[in-house]
Amino acid sequence: MDWKNLGFGYVKTDYRYVSNYKDGKWDEGILTTDEKVVLNESAGVLQYAQTCFEGLKAYKTVDGRVVCFRPDLNAQRMIQSAQRLEMPPFPAERFLEAVKSVVKKNIESVPPYGSGASLYIRPYMFGTNPVMGVKPADEYQFRIFVSPVGPYFKGGAKPITLRIPDFDRAAPLGTGHVKAGLNYAMSLHAIVDAHKQGYNENMYLDSATRTKIEETGGANIIFVTKDNKVVTPKSSTILPSITRRSLMYVAQKYLGLEVEERIIYKEELNEMKECALCGTAAVLSPVGKVNDHGKEIVFPSGMEKAGEITQKLYDTLTGIQLGRIEAPEGWIMEIK
Ligand code: PLP
Ligand code: COI
Repeated sequence: MDWKNLGFGYVKTDYRYVSNYKDGKWDEGILTTDEKVVLNESAGVLQYAQTCFEGLKAYKTVDGRVVCFRPDLNAQRMIQSAQRLEMPPFPAERFLEAVKSVVKKNIESVPPYGSGASLYIRPYMFGTNPVMGVKPADEYQFRIFVSPVGPYFKGGAKPITLRIPDFDRAAPLGTGHVKAGLNYAMSLHAIVDAHKQGYNENMYLDSATRTKIEETGGANIIFVTKDNKVVTPKSSTILPSITRRSLMYVAQKYLGLEVEERIIYKEELNEMKECALCGTAAVLSPVGKVNDHGKEIVFPSGMEKAGEITQKLYDTLTGIQLGRIEAPEGWIMEIK
């Protein structure tokens, strides 16, 4: 495996975890080599997109251990996603056990320390039995597969360009705060259009007023103000990113910076010194500029490299994930 040149894509690995829900309960689950899912033509997921997912990573640490970063928060968030979509939650303890077992069974696929790659873990669940009227399924499947991945954005640490699109991602009382497949289905047109026009991603605004900054299709956003405060949008319609919550803690407790989660208006973009996308896949990807309908906002950190604070946050976060820096209590789950 050419670990250093891996992109962010699906690579088939040996084992995946499968558990089925029927007659009101989850079965005990198995590890299987069969990557195929065979469904009834009218399965709930196929007709009404009844599916949600999670994303987390396993890393090889500097001292040769294999660890996951805050998987308990993914387990919790998946329960919230399932509840919003009227699906039976997969119990958190079982989620953690399943993550452990599937990573252990694919241990050879965990990229080596120093390669810049990691093992992406994708838990997901979907309605399996036939439905015709608009209603939740009665039967579900929960699965986890893993895939070694490199950087989400080609070019690794080079700053990217966002545009403010004329599409919305989430409605005020909709599903933007959970990890529902439908949020991503509706972002596909916007991302294809953004790419066609030469932008890496969309910076979505709140759909109610279109004045506030929300997030991108696959990551939250953080900014550094001119007085070195780390700020991030407060909104009930964005996904509560585990990476973002961790970065805000790191900024405050490890770097001694002031942090704030607050409404950020589009007008304030001009006043920001640095900007970056954060998420499991994106890690912390610097943003060099934003295009707002032809008007370019270039952050002072520029298009050549990450801003100074973004770089410190990146080094500290990845240092914690890779075992170079001591992690806060409970952030690291070792696979053994
Ligand atoms: N926002 C969206 C829309 C996402 O898809 C993701 C990815 O999971 C994130 C934010 C980042 O969340 P996390 O840091 O928990 O991976
Ligand atoms: C993740 O970061 O885990 C995500 O789910 C983002 C996705 C767009 C790849």
